[in-house]
Amino acid sequence: MECLYLLTIFALFGVCSSDEGWFWHVTDFHWDFSYWTDQLSCNGMNISQPGTFGNQWCDSPWSLVEESIKGLGPVRSQVDFIIWTGKDLNYELVENITSLMQQEFPNTKVYATFGNHDHYPTNLFPPNNDDIYNATYLIWKAWINDDSQMDNFHKGGYYTVKLGNSLRLIALNSNMYYTKDTATAHLEDPADQFRWLEQTLNSSQAANEKVILIGHVPPGYTTPRAVRWMTKEFNQKFVDIVLRHSSTIAALHFGHEHHDSFRLFYKGENPVATLFIAPSVTPWRYQLSNGEIEPAHNPGARLVKFDRQTGKTLEILQYYADLDKVNANKQFVWTLGYNASSIYGIPDLGDDSMHEVVGKLTESSNSEFLNFVKWYNTNGKNPTETCSSKCHQAVICGLRHMTENAFQKCLDQSTSTQTMPIPNIFVTLVSLIFLAF
Ligand SMILES: *[C@@H]1O[C@H](CO)[C@@H](O)[C@H](O)[C@H]1NC(C)=O
Ligand SMILES: *[C@@H]1O[C@H](CO)[C@@H](O)[C@H](O)[C@H]1NC(C)=O
Ligand SMILES: *[C@@H]1O[C@H](CO)[C@@H](O)[C@H](O)[C@H]1NC(C)=O
Ligand SMILES: *[C@@H]1O[C@H](CO)[C@@H](O)[C@H](O)[C@H]1NC(C)=O
Ligand SMILES: *[C@@H]1O[C@H](CO)[C@@H](O)[C@H](O)[C@H]1NC(C)=O
Repeated sequence: MECLYLLTIFALFGVCSSDEGWFWHVTDFHWDFSYWTDQLSCNGMNISQPGTFGNQWCDSPWSLVEESIKGLGPVRSQVDFIIWTGKDLNYELVENITSLMQQEFPNTKVYATFGNHDHYPTNLFPPNNDDIYNATYLIWKAWINDDSQMDNFHKGGYYTVKLGNSLRLIALNSNMYYTKDTATAHLEDPADQFRWLEQTLNSSQAANEKVILIGHVPPGYTTPRAVRWMTKEFNQKFVDIVLRHSSTIAALHFGHEHHDSFRLFYKGENPVATLFIAPSVTPWRYQLSNGEIEPAHNPGARLVKFDRQTGKTLEILQYYADLDKVNANKQFVWTLGYNASSIYGIPDLGDDSMHEVVGKLTESSNSEFLNFVKWYNTNGKNPTETCSSKCHQAVICGLRHMTENAFQKCLDQSTSTQTMPIPNIFVTLVSLIFLAF
């Protein structure tokens, strides 16, 4: 009935029924040009038989970069656009991947952002005009398709495009806020990006537009390691801007972490914006000198369904390539890992629904949490790693708290409530042992 009613009113304007679009999100290709020779990315391992499409200890050979892009079309070629949120080692690699995407998707716009390795030397994005911005603008300008964006792209590698009547995309160079970017750390507002972002959000609000924000390095904390990527000050500024403009921001899509995750922005108890983090194409896992080893994970690519009018996220279909299998078969294929509405039991992926997911994840024995850990850790491999109660608490704090004080407070509270049962069990055990004697 409601649809009919809408039909009669809006039929003339062609706005009827659900106006649903799709986009691909690919991130972190990490092409290692030395994969077949010096294996520079391979954690110092000596991989004697590197697989055709990659190895879990290494960044991607060109065959993985190439097939991961060529493999998208057979899954879904009709998409509104593609987002590519970094990161690749330098300009030449960005250039090659850009050409490949243009060849595979000649009629589709790709909205790309820089990743923290894209600039050489790595992690040093200049807060002012530089060759890297000018050169990249030339190869991305056909996608951006709006010369009014040239000045801010030249200034700091950021831009905005209109996606439809009432929807806009803002592509940020959030690498300038990365803790490792020593070129920007002392500045209030590197390349004027914060001011531009607020101004753009102000105009969108005035024009009744909604905005999808994309970038590479995300705000907040990756857990359970409790690592904040942005400096404390930049992170706080970023979060404050999102909160001030949450009614205009439809969703945020970032990369960098290599893991499949999300975080919510809250105003008090109310969820007001959702940050989605897509897993990487690269299967590279790290091994730190302190012995910490990341779980082995598969390459990933993400298909997102959204509302073309409001930008609301409606569905995420997460794809993965079973690396052992595609290497054995010498044939690359993307496999559907999960359908988010289905594994989390939610009608869409709007802020209220994602808040409901957080609620389900607070119980560590729920299937939702087990699924979250599986996809977070391994993207489709069967995980051998589990998430202890300390890990679980850190994950929950990270999903809900984006800023230093709130996140630390949450961690402290969960440790203090957590230590309670341990002495109790210990006392009981000790008493039992005493009783037995
Ligand atoms: C790597 O292993 C191969 C054989 O397994 C060996 O011939 C080669 O010398 C090793 N390279 C390094 C750098 O250890
Ligand atoms: C990357 O592009 C350059 C030309 O710009 C070409 O010489 C090189 O072979 C390409 N690399 C790959 C792996 O396709
Ligand atoms: C980048 O392009 C702008 C506009 O054309 C120009 O003013 C500037 O000098 C260029 N920067 C570099 C580093 O070449
Ligand atoms: C955005 O709008 C607010 C409220 O009108 C105003 O205070 C602020 O200065 C504007 N910011 C920018 C960067 O234009
Ligand atoms: C996701 O799963 C739900 C429930 O099984 C199903 O109704 C829906 O069609 C699926 N969505 C897509 C895009 O496959």
